[in-house]
Amino acid sequence: MLTLNNIEVIYNDVILVLKGMSLQVPEGKIVGLLGSNGAGKSTTLKAISGLLKPENGEVTDGSIEFLGEQIHNQDAAEIVRKGIFQVMEGRRVFEHLTVEENLIAGGYTRQGANLKGDLEMVYGYFPRLKDRQKQTAGYLSGGEQQMLAIGRALMARPRLMMLDEPSLGLAPLLVMEIFHIIKRINEERGTTILLVEQNANLTLGVADYAYIMENGRIVLEGYPDILRENADVREFYLGLTEVGQRKSYREVKHYKRRKRWLS
Ligand SMILES: Nc1ncnc2c1ncn2[C@@H]1O[C@H](COP(=O)(O)OP(=O)(O)OP(=O)(O)O)[C@@H](O)[C@H]1O
Ligand SMILES: [Mg+2]
Repeated sequence: MLTLNNIEVIYNDVILVLKGMSLQVPEGKIVGLLGSNGAGKSTTLKAISGLLKPENGEVTDGSIEFLGEQIHNQDAAEIVRKGIFQVMEGRRVFEHLTVEENLIAGGYTRQGANLKGDLEMVYGYFPRLKDRQKQTAGYLSGGEQQMLAIGRALMARPRLMMLDEPSLGLAPLLVMEIFHIIKRINEERGTTILLVEQNANLTLGVADYAYIMENGRIVLEGYPDILRENADVREFYLGLTEVGQRKSYREVKHYKRRKRWLS
């Protein structure tokens, strides 16, 4: 459905951030994109959704193909109309609007939309939002705002939904709840999902296939079961040593600085 072929992204005409990034997202699947801070995950999503321009970034090489069409020079609104919707990092909601107004705003791109039915569909996935439909979004908890951000994306009935670190800053139980809902959305609605994360364990739990990126390119890819067995993944992303013991975060981080995926 989506193919990135060797793309290069440069910010401010000089800062090369993506250095030959390639990945594929097959229709109907959940694909995970893992990587540590600064690897280029958000930049990858912005390249796909046409959101680099406001940040003075540009795709300078390679190609981005969605449903057989080149989209890398198109503007963000056009890409949304094609069915790609990005849920930005940091749960961006309209803070002064109510929950329901936020959701209705998410459906604005569609004509002849069945708003009521779609609101019920979103509330079905996120009953907490239904309880708070008249509340101002700015006063929701972090987890509820993340649910609202995903709910708003659902209102646009995307074919491809891209989520940028939905687990960021949330308590583990809430993250599990949200990942479970993401999986349901994929299974029940057939929505294709590109899931950007640092939480490798949960991502490998829901994804059909996953990529690991570092320093602007993919360094490892595979089916979750196989990645879980990979020594480097266990060490750096799952925090496990070969004997299955949990390492201290500090230790892993230190080691990580010394060892690179490709060196
Ligand atoms: N607008 C920008 N101008 C210049 N450099 C940028 C810009 N946005 C990002 N970068 C740089 O590009 C690199 C990748 O950033 P990006 O946000 O894509 O990483 P990330 O993998 O999403 O990290 P995180 O997990 O911290 O969100 C970083 O070194 C960052 O400093
Ligand atoms: Mg990011």
